[in-house]
Order: sequence, then structure tokens, then C-alpha cells
Amino acid sequence: MDMQPIKARSGNHNLENYEQTYNNFKWDETKKNFSWSETGKINIAYETIDKHAEDPATKDKAALIYSSPDREETLSFDQLKRKSNQFANVLKKHDIEKGDRVFLFMHRSPEFYAAFLGILKTGAIAGPLFEAFMEQAVRDRLEDSEAKMLITTPDLLERVPQSELPNLEKIILVGDSGSDEYISFEKEMEEASEEFDLEWVELEDGMLLHYTSGSTGKPKGVYHVHNAMIQHYQTGKWVLDLKDDDVYWCTADPGWVTGTSYGIFAPWLNGVTNVVRGGRFSPDDWYGTIAEKNVSVWYSAPTAFRKLLSAGEDAAQKHDLSSLRHILSVGEPLNPEVITWGLKAFDLRIHDTWWMTETGAMLICNYPSVDMRPGSMGKPFPGIEAAIVDNEGNELPANQMGNLAIKEGWPSMMRAVWNNPGKYESYFINGWYVSGDSAYKDEDGYFWFQGRLDDVINTSGERVGPFEVESKLIEHEAVAEAGVIGKPDPERGEIIKAFITLRDGYSESDELLEDIRQFVKNGLSAHAAPREIEIKDTIPKTRSGKIMRRLLKSWELGLPTGDTSTLEE
Ligand code: WT7
Repeated sequence: MDMQPIKARSGNHNLENYEQTYNNFKWDETKKNFSWSETGKINIAYETIDKHAEDPATKDKAALIYSSPDREETLSFDQLKRKSNQFANVLKKHDIEKGDRVFLFMHRSPEFYAAFLGILKTGAIAGPLFEAFMEQAVRDRLEDSEAKMLITTPDLLERVPQSELPNLEKIILVGDSGSDEYISFEKEMEEASEEFDLEWVELEDGMLLHYTSGSTGKPKGVYHVHNAMIQHYQTGKWVLDLKDDDVYWCTADPGWVTGTSYGIFAPWLNGVTNVVRGGRFSPDDWYGTIAEKNVSVWYSAPTAFRKLLSAGEDAAQKHDLSSLRHILSVGEPLNPEVITWGLKAFDLRIHDTWWMTETGAMLICNYPSVDMRPGSMGKPFPGIEAAIVDNEGNELPANQMGNLAIKEGWPSMMRAVWNNPGKYESYFINGWYVSGDSAYKDEDGYFWFQGRLDDVINTSGERVGPFEVESKLIEHEAVAEAGVIGKPDPERGEIIKAFITLRDGYSESDELLEDIRQFVKNGLSAHAAPREIEIKDTIPKTRSGKIMRRLLKSWELGLPTGDTSTLEE
């Protein structure tokens, strides 16, 4: 669909003149907002919470508005400071030191946010895990990171294979456990002091590990440092357009990077009230959250917008959505149809933003004061140099498709892939970070997403590595070989489709296919389970034994198969 540009609205925007700012901006200007510029020391948790708690003007302001179908709780900056201090004291009591990995495996709750911030206050590295992970996904991450401690809840504990995790020394349980085997969150918090001597760290000290999938191997630990706050803060100001009286809602789970960078850091670094909604998605629930909490700035994802769109206008009209003033999207291509729907449903533009787990913060965005070309991800953030490059890292001219790449060295860039320096190096060519996405840039500097260059699958905005799913599939007693691809789907972007061969003695049946599906779901997570499984006589492989997913995809889509010279006999 080709659409006319949508004009920027006039009004007060934090970033009024994009071009001029882009040409003059230096990240060092942002650094001046932080304690680092005076003391040489920093802690992202201090800048996020304590700073506002120490300011009489914001001390009692609502920092967190938590709501779920069965719980409502609001915490001020001061209360969140005290609770995170208490938790930091609990961690110190249990010997957590700067640099230790402390993981969280729990549902969204006020306790999660207090614990997360408490971890950062000790200088330890936080590792939030998505609540839907099953045993193997949990084990892979705790094993690779050599996590020393885990904070979880009784219902999720059964997915933690403790006997296989020798480094995991202690588990803190949130919610009554009634056992002596685990540390009780409630009991320890009650005894802990609300004062804590925060661990001042260097800008380059670690703070966060997010695991994400590539096309080969197990999920990799993307390592972020405190310095990322510079970009969280500035993108919060200029892209989210946050202002003091905003009520902000990011719908992402903190198990994913959007839920930390933009569900924790960006709003609180800017001192803004942050809404967290627990429980499951439903159009009524989401519209209700906007209306009840008076959400003014809303950051969500295409897959959610598409679900709201299909729920129809009636679903929206039941609620007063007039508090909304700014909407943003991330995670997958934002279809022009969805933007058109947004204009009708909210009388607002939906602003697409592009970035990745590895990049730590937004890089290419649409800004409130800039004309929008529907279907485009927008233009690079000030301080960011983005380009389309060929495989040698040479810049390509306008309108030519190639690798979307960013000039190395922006503040929130990952600093390592945990335990895997080779993997980290492989992202960089000729001074460019190469994203793995293909795109082109038009003659006016707008970037247009074209697809992934590798086999990574994007299903409902969640990134799934085919290798992980294939490995799980062949653990099933009936499966001999497996090849996994993303199949285009109107609502989910892509769905996971698996091609398998069966072992001798097994034959196709609906029960068997369902059993295999459940096996992946119970081992990894629901979003990684193939929605479609097709049985084949053979799975195409290269002579060196690599599964030819590209060929499977061409078959699936009825496309020409291209070069098959490396295909095994
Ligand atoms: C991949 C990164 C950090 C954001 C959440 C996802 C795809 C992300 C867009 C967009 C088209 C997008 C890319 C990217 N993606 N934003 N605006 N338009 N595609 O983070 O799980 O690390 O996935 O998501 O393919 O490489 P992630």
C-alpha cells in the first residue's frame, strides 16, 4: 500500500527541529544530566529512582502504577527507593557482589521492579527471564551466565532444574513457600534496612544480560553496561516525547529488552509515572487500562495493534481514550494499514521505532515533529550514523537494498556476548555494526525495512532461533530430523513451521503431531512451539550437513528454489 506522508502535528514537542539537532548533537551533552559529570561515578538505579526520591518536588510522585486483574498498587519514587534499598541489603546479606549474575524469573509485579533495581544497586548484573519460559530455556540461560542467585515464585520454581545448575547457590522465593530450603522474600524484606550504601560503578560496568536468539546455536547473552542510560534518557525525551505530567505505558514484558530499556529506564530516568499492567492481553483490558490510568504515552507492538484492529471499533468506543497523546511501536514491521487504523481509532499517528536487543535502545525512529512516511521506520536518532552497506561494509547509494548497519560506538550498544567473544566480533564489519536486517534508505533519508537476512523468525514480535526449535524437536522420540522456518502470517507476522522426518516405527497421526508440538512448548516456551508441522521423507541439507532452511521456505511459498549446488545428494 502506497500512502501519502502524514504531516507532523504542531504542538510542543521535546525535539522541535530534527535536522538541526541531528547535525549538531553530541552525546556528551546528555552525560551532563548525570552524577557522572560531577563525581566520575554512576549507578543507573540511582539516576532512575533515587535521584527523583531525593528531590522534594518528585519524592512522592507516583513512579509505578501497577495493576492486574487481582491487584492494584502504586509506589512513589521514595517508596521504590526504599524497597529497592531493602532488597539490595538482602542481596548483600547473601553475599552478592558487584559483577555477580542475579536472575529474575517471575511475573510482572511491584516486587519484580524493587528486586530488579535492588540488584543494580549492588553493582550486580540483572538477568530477567520471560515468565513463559519452560525448563530448557531457563536452564540454558542460568547455565551460560553462571547465575549465582535466582528470584522466582513458587509456581515457576518447578521449571528451574536446580540439580543441573551447580553455580546457582541460592533461590529467593516471592510469595509464601513455607519451606526452609528457600529464602523468603517477604521475611528478608521485613528485616532489611531501608537505607543502603549504593555501589557506585563506572559507566562501563555491567548491569544487564538479555538472552536473544540468532540463526545458529543456543540463545546468546547480550551484555549491557550502565552507560546505556545516556541513550535511554535521551530517546525517552525525544522519541517517547516524555514530559513531567505524562502517564506512560509500555506493554512489553521486562523479560525482553523493550520491557527494561523502555519499561524501566527511559520513563524513570525522565522522572515520569510508569504504568505496568499484569495478566493477559484482551482488547477490553488494554483499552480499559488506557482509560482508567489516563495513559498519555503508549509504547506497544504491531502484533498488539493488529489484534486491537481485528477486535473492531466497538471494542474501542466503550472506553474513553482521550488521555492518549502519543503512540509508538516496535518489534516488527508496522503495516501502513495499522497506521491508517490508528488515525481513525485514536486520531493519532503510530510512530514506528527500530532497534534490537543488541543495540540496547532505539536507533531509527519516527519523531512527533517530523513528517511520517507510512511503512518507513523513520530516520536515525541524533548521534546515530545509520547506513545500508554491502557484505564488505561499503556504503550503498540511496534506494539500494542491503545490510542495515550502524556506525560502532553509540552509548547503549552491547559490550559483549556473554562467554562468546567470537560471536560479538562477528557483528562488526569495517567499523559498522551489521544488524542482520535488510533495508534501503530513500533519497530523503527515511529507512525502509525489507526483511531478515538470516533465518531468525519474528513471531508476534518475539525473536525465535530456528536452531533452538530444531534441537528440541529432535529430542522427541519420534523425530529423526527437523528444519524450521518462519511462514508469513497476517496477524502474527510469521508463524513457526517445522518440517520433520520420522524415525522408523512411527507414522503420521494428528495425535503424534500434537504431542510433538506440546513437547516443544513444554520444553522451550509457547511462543517457540511450531504452529504447523509437516512430515517429509527427507530434510534438505548441504553436503556439510547444514539444514537448508532457505530451500524449505521456497518450497513453502512456492518460490523458485535458487542455487541448490551445495545440496546433499
Ligand atoms: C529484530 C530485533 C528491541 C526491539 C524489540 C525486538 C525486528 C524490530 C522493527 C521495526 C521492522 C523490526 C528486526 C530486528 N524489528 N523493530 N520497527 N520494523 N522490524 O528486539 O527481539 O532483539 O529483535 O526485530 O528484525 O532485527 P529483538
